[in-house]
Amino acid sequence: MRIFSGIQPTGRKHLGNYLGAIRQYVSGQDRGEGIYCVVDLHAITIAYKPEDLRKSVYDTTAMLLAAGLDPERCILFRQGDVREHTELCWHLASVTAFGELSRMTQFKDKSAKQDLVKAGLFLYPVLQAADILLYQTDEVPVGEDQRQHIELTRDVAMRFNETFGKTFVVPKHVIPTIAARVMDLKDPTTKMSTSARVPDGVVHVLDEEAATLKKFKGATTDSGSEVKRGDDKPGVSNLIEIYAAVRGVAPDAVEQEFVGKRYGDFKLAVGDAVNQYFKPVREKYVTLRADEAELERVLGKGAEKARAIAVKTMQKVRDAMGLKV
Ligand code: TRP
Repeated sequence: MRIFSGIQPTGRKHLGNYLGAIRQYVSGQDRGEGIYCVVDLHAITIAYKPEDLRKSVYDTTAMLLAAGLDPERCILFRQGDVREHTELCWHLASVTAFGELSRMTQFKDKSAKQDLVKAGLFLYPVLQAADILLYQTDEVPVGEDQRQHIELTRDVAMRFNETFGKTFVVPKHVIPTIAARVMDLKDPTTKMSTSARVPDGVVHVLDEEAATLKKFKGATTDSGSEVKRGDDKPGVSNLIEIYAAVRGVAPDAVEQEFVGKRYGDFKLAVGDAVNQYFKPVREKYVTLRADEAELERVLGKGAEKARAIAVKTMQKVRDAMGLKV
């Protein structure tokens, strides 16, 4: 069973990124062959600074290693190191409809924020499909917000297979069941996101412990006083989901544990639990991030392993499409 996912090399990762994606990558190593890619080529589709990008790739790589990815047991690499990604993107672009890409909600959202909307941003979902299909992927663990991109990937794979003969595995989207959507602590009706308006609603993996506690203490709670989930209690429900996820217990058990307790005590307990959960990650990160040569070595080895698979798929694709093999 092959698992593939891509992660943006953008700055600081938050609790939502960690629980929704990174954590699944780590557990994926035990379930199958995990292939994880830091997507620098996706990052250049919006305005950016080259020197920041180079650093962000290292930040993200160090974070993934600190979280528990083991380069001996999975493939961890930088997208731009394996040229087959851009090559397959072109081949897939010729089986993808302009209309399909025009309907992508992320394209609409992102392009609304850019002065210059690049053609690369429009093709972003095709490059993502290439990432996934190159490795004959069975499962793609990635957040709910990527659903449309994964659907497109499946459609493109099926269309390609129908047109040119069976070439690609059609992948499945896997979304984590607990904490698939970590909400903003200040505004629990919106998703936790790097671009949040109020910084205190977003907990970063690398925040100091005191800052983490402060954010949880200041979390918005709802009317009533019971620690219980409910549609009318988005704040408390979110905190329950977070606590359950970092403690590895069911949300029901959390409600039982806090029967008769006040919101204030509960919020502190969640903050503490998150700090405990992140403690080893925060410690390992510092050591890993300090050694860029070692990070580069890990990425280079990963690229070699990834390329061995990618080259084979590209040969099949060229052959199926009547191009020179
Ligand atoms: N678009 C994804 C995101 O923003 C990142 C990504 C790129 C990805 N290629 C991928 C995710 C392939 C899964 C599979 O999160």
